[in-house]
Formats: sequence, C-alpha cells, structure tokens
Amino acid sequence: MTRKILVTSALPYANGPIHIGHLVEYIQTDIWVRFQKMRGNRCTYICADDTHGTAIMIRARKEGRSEEALIGDMSAAHQRDFSGFGIQFDHYGSTNSDANREICAEFWKSLREADLVTERAIEQLFDPEAETFLADRFVRGTCPTCGLTDQAGDNCTCGATYSPTDLIDPKSTLSGATPILRESQHLFVELEKLHALLNHWVETSGALQTEVANYLKGHFLAEELRDWDISRPAPYFGFEIPDSPGNYWYVWFDAPIGYIASTREWCETNGEQLADWWRDPECEIHHFIGKDITYFHTLFWPGMLKTAKYNLPTKVHIHGFLNVDGKKMSKRDGTLVAAETYLKYANPSYLRYFYATKLTSRVEDLDLGVEEFTEKVNSDLVGKVVNLASRVGKFANKTGLAKTYPDDGGLFTAAAAAGDEIAAAYEAGEYAKAMRKIMELADAANPFVEHAKPWEMNKDEQRTDELRDTCTVALNLFRQLAVYLSPVLPELAAKCGELMGDEISSWDQSKEPLVGTPVSKFKRMMDRVQPEDLKKMMEESKELAAEDTAAGDQPTFNDSDQPLKDEPLADEISIDDFAKVDLRVARVVSAEHVPEANKLLKLTLSLGGEERRQVFAGIKAAYEPENLVGRLVVMVANLKPRKMRFGLSEGMVTAAGPGGADVFILSVDDGAQPGQRVH
Ligand code: MSP
Ligand code: ZN
Repeated sequence: MTRKILVTSALPYANGPIHIGHLVEYIQTDIWVRFQKMRGNRCTYICADDTHGTAIMIRARKEGRSEEALIGDMSAAHQRDFSGFGIQFDHYGSTNSDANREICAEFWKSLREADLVTERAIEQLFDPEAETFLADRFVRGTCPTCGLTDQAGDNCTCGATYSPTDLIDPKSTLSGATPILRESQHLFVELEKLHALLNHWVETSGALQTEVANYLKGHFLAEELRDWDISRPAPYFGFEIPDSPGNYWYVWFDAPIGYIASTREWCETNGEQLADWWRDPECEIHHFIGKDITYFHTLFWPGMLKTAKYNLPTKVHIHGFLNVDGKKMSKRDGTLVAAETYLKYANPSYLRYFYATKLTSRVEDLDLGVEEFTEKVNSDLVGKVVNLASRVGKFANKTGLAKTYPDDGGLFTAAAAAGDEIAAAYEAGEYAKAMRKIMELADAANPFVEHAKPWEMNKDEQRTDELRDTCTVALNLFRQLAVYLSPVLPELAAKCGELMGDEISSWDQSKEPLVGTPVSKFKRMMDRVQPEDLKKMMEESKELAAEDTAAGDQPTFNDSDQPLKDEPLADEISIDDFAKVDLRVARVVSAEHVPEANKLLKLTLSLGGEERRQVFAGIKAAYEPENLVGRLVVMVANLKPRKMRFGLSEGMVTAAGPGGADVFILSVDDGAQPGQRVH
C-alpha cells in the first residue's frame, strides 16, 4: 500500500550561512525522502527559512537595509547551498509569509479559545541605545560566581549558570551600553494545562526515540510545566499579535507553524488540499531535527498542534551534533566549513555518503574524521562501487548486454534478496547499517570481475561472448548497488542509468537484471578524494573566519553605482538657494485612490494643529493607501499650488527612486513632529 508522508527538516535560521553541521540534518532527511519516493510512496519534503527575531532585526539595521532584503538574500543563498548538495525540497518557503501570518492567527485563536493564554509583566534587560530588549545572548559581563570578565549572559566558562540580571557590570553586545531593567507585559501559554495530554503522547504515540521519551519523562514531564513566554515587545522583527498591539509572537511560536504554512504554499501550486496532509489521520508526518531543539518539537509543538486540531507528528527523528576530528567545529580550526566553501573543494556526494555511513537511529553525536572521510570515500565508493563499472565499462560499450543473464554463481539473486533488509534499515534511519550491507555486496561482487579478467578476454576475438557475459554480470551487480545507494548518491545512480540506458527511479529495479540492451560510452563516475583539497578547504574556512572577526561589527556595504550613473549630480547651489525650499515634516492623515488617475494617490497631510494640505502623489504603483495613513513624511511645503483635473495639489511629498513601483518615500526618525522644518 502506498503511504502518504509529509517530511520536514528544521527551518534554518536566516541569520547565518549553511555549514557542514546543518548538512547532517538536511542530507539525512533528503536520503529518507528519496528512499520513500523510490519505494513508490507519496512523499512531500517541506522546508523554509526561519526569518524572525532580534538577531535579524539588528543585523539588518547594521547593514542599513530592510529585514526583507536581508532575508531574501539569505534564502537565495541557503537554497543554492542545499541544491549544491542535491537536497531536493518539494517546497522551500519562508516564515515571513502571508500564509504563515494567517495560520499563526488561527493557532492563536485556538489557544485563546482553549483558555491557554495568560498575561503578566516581566522585567528584562533593555538596551537604551539600541532601544530593544536584550535576549540573553546579547548581554555580556562579569560572572557573579567567579569574577571572570566578558562572560555570556546566561553562563560562564567556569560552569556557573545564572540569569543576565545577575551579571556584574553587564554590557549590551549591540551597542556597548549598560542595559537597564525594564518591565513589559508578556503573553504566556499555560503548558501545564496540556501536561496530561503530553504525557500520554510521549508515552504511547511511538513518535519519539526511546531515549528521548525517557529523557522527557525524567526531566520536564516529571515536574510542573512552566508557562511558555511567547510574546516580545516592539521593536521586534516578526508578526504583531492581532489582539495585543505592540507585541509580537516570539520567533519560536511562528517557526514551527511555518511547516504548515510552507505546506499550504506547496498545496496551492500543486492542486492539493492542506487538510489532506495535516488533518488526515492516514497521512504520516515526520520531523527531522537536531537534539538542541528537542523541547520545542516534543512539548510546545505537539501541544499547539493538538489545540489547533492538527495532526501530531507520527515521528520526530532526532539526531546528534557533528564534531570534526573529535572536536566541536570551530572557526579558529577551520572546521566550521560553510556549505559554499565545501563545494569549491570537494564533491558533495562524498559528504552524503560519509554521513550515511555514520547515521543511526539514535541521538548520538557523529564525528567527521578527515582521514576516515578520505579512506571511506576512496576505498568504498571509488575502490569498490565505481570500480565494478569502470573495469568493464569500456568493453561493455563494444559488447552490449547479453540476451540472457549469465550464471554468476548466485550473486545477483543474493543481492536482490538483501533488498528488504537494506530497505528496512533506511526506513528506520539506520543508514550506517544499510551502507555496511551494501558494501558487503560490493565486496562479494568485485572478486567475480577480478577472477574473470575481462581485460584479457578483450585481447582475444574468440572470447567476445565470454567478455559480454562478464560485462553483463559486472554491470548488473553495479546497477543493483546504484539502486540501493541512489537515495544517498542520486548523481551516481543517474550516471548508471545513463550508462545502461535505463533511468533508476524505483527500488524494484534491483530485482531484475537488465539484458539484451546496448551500453553507452563509459564516462568517469567519481574521482578519489584529494587530501590536499580538504586542507585547502579548511585553510579557506580559517581565513574566512579571520576576516569575519577582523571586520568585527563593521558591516560591509555593496551598493550599486547605477543610480548615480542614471542621474548624475546637479550643478552646485548656494545655501540660500537651498533655503528657498521649505521642507517640512508632515503626517499623512488620509490617503485614497483617485479613480480617474492611474498613477496618483490623493493624500491629506497635516502640518500639526489644524493645518492641512492636499497633495496628489504619483505613488499608486508603490503604496497601498492604508499603509500610508499615520506615517510621517517630508513635504515641499512652499511649492506653488497646481491645479489638476481632480483638484488642487498643494505641495509635494519627497521620495526617491526611478518611478512606478520603485518609489521610496522619505521617512523621518521617531520623535520628529509634523510642522518641523527640515534643514
Ligand atoms: N531555526 C531553528 C529551527 C526552527 S524549526 C521550526 C534552528 N535553526 S538552525 O539553523 O540553528 O539549525 C537548523 C537545524 O540544523 C537544527 O535541527 C539543528 O539542530 C541542526 N544543526 C545545526 N548545527 C548542527 C551541528 N553542528 N550538527 C548537527 N546538526 C546541527 O534551530
Ligand atoms: Zn564564572
């Protein structure tokens, strides 16, 4: 029976590049999805960028651009990296989407209706210069326990943990200012009210690995569940809470809902119904995540899903963290390798295979030993698997495949019979076991070619039939391996398909040999890992990290020179010339369409008190009227009024840009008042 399966990987934060640690997860998920698709199941792989939060807001400010521009670039970079590693999503969305805003509102309504939301004031450190509340990681200071300076907001290298308000001489890492304590109202979800439900789910659903279920039962679920703070006061980059103006949903509220929102976008472009994937008991939901975000996915998220009447996950597959050469990845050692850097020096298939040989169904950290990596790829993939094809490839192009499959001493049948066990290992996330099984098959297949010595047969015209038989066996055994490996090595499988004129797309292709068909010209399939390349990769990672630190908080700007080229600077004027133009701060008090004009909006501007000006502005393609009301703008207040077809225009709103949809109205900083002159 075909299964219907929705699969997600955690939504990567938009504030950083993808590195080889992340790839443990995305490669692992992609392998599982490809496996399911090959088995003939309906499987949809959904992901998105996780875009909200203080970090993005602060970075956008530093780089002098909007959050939207920043997250747009990051999403493009993430998707480039993923596709470079063959990770194939059915849809890649963003948590900053209309769909997500709507579904968040729906979840919120359910939480309110279930009486799970409560409100109270809390005190938090606030940066008076950056004008924002500070999450723990944005505060550093002297450890209250041991007196070490420059320690993180919640823990010290001495091992002490504390709250940022306990730090001695705390400083904001955003501005260097001394934070002050400020009170604000926060909204909380009363998780304790869901305690029984979560207990039940953790114990009976089978959705969690045993060690995870035991951990939750022994820790969080053993005590009263604390209220979950899910709001943040302005300024915050996120969605404003509809019934609590000035407060925003905390990024971890809207991020998992992003799984559903991104699915909905996929449904909309593929003629599917969201309910068939998130509310149909027949549909399986599988989340793949790292151990650091267990709590969010095994307590908050199921609680929210239940409340909003969505299905709970069938399985949460939790993996450990990547170490390199036995140590935590580090910028200084050059082991925190960005996906982009890796791709410059090494074949992505190597990493896919290497991770596959390391992954089990348990929550264990895994180690990328550089020597082991080289050894595994070179001896397993190049030495055993590809070798099988490359030793006969050239000859097979001449002979083609035999009409009937020759006697191979039972190798093909044995390998076909191993298919179920290998499939079960993939299904269970025991990729290491699957890879071991496949390499055993390769080990059994290689001696066949060695003994047959096709290169000798090739020298003797009389032995063409024998040669054809040998090629037929070798290539069919190779093809079986390629089928079994194709979730991990789609590129190798594609090359095998090309060589033998039969695209690999289904698991069952491992069951029957190909016979009687021509074989294409043999092309190189995979090169050996060059250890020098890996060294260069780490060197470059080190250099990039050094540049990063040297640049410190200095943002780099990369503005185009096109605008100045399009419109060169004007002739010089005197200050008196400038003073003739009376620029004033004004507030838009109303904005409406002018039905007869296709470019204009009619604005009423207030200069404070009762002073009003009516202005027609050519900004219709760029702005919705309702988004302008309340905004402060800069107007030319002493421009001679101009009579237009629709009425009198009594000034001009200042804006930049070439026109059409690319018009950008000037804003003024907070604190300015309508009527003030701009000098
Ligand atoms: N944005 C959150 C997830 C929201 S899901 C609704 C997040 N993003 S992340 O970019 O920090 O991490 C994305 C995934 O990569 C997480 O599952 C995380 O555990 C995983 N990994 C990040 N670094 C990792 C390693 N060094 N090793 C293995 N996995 C790692 O968390
Ligand atoms: Zn300390």
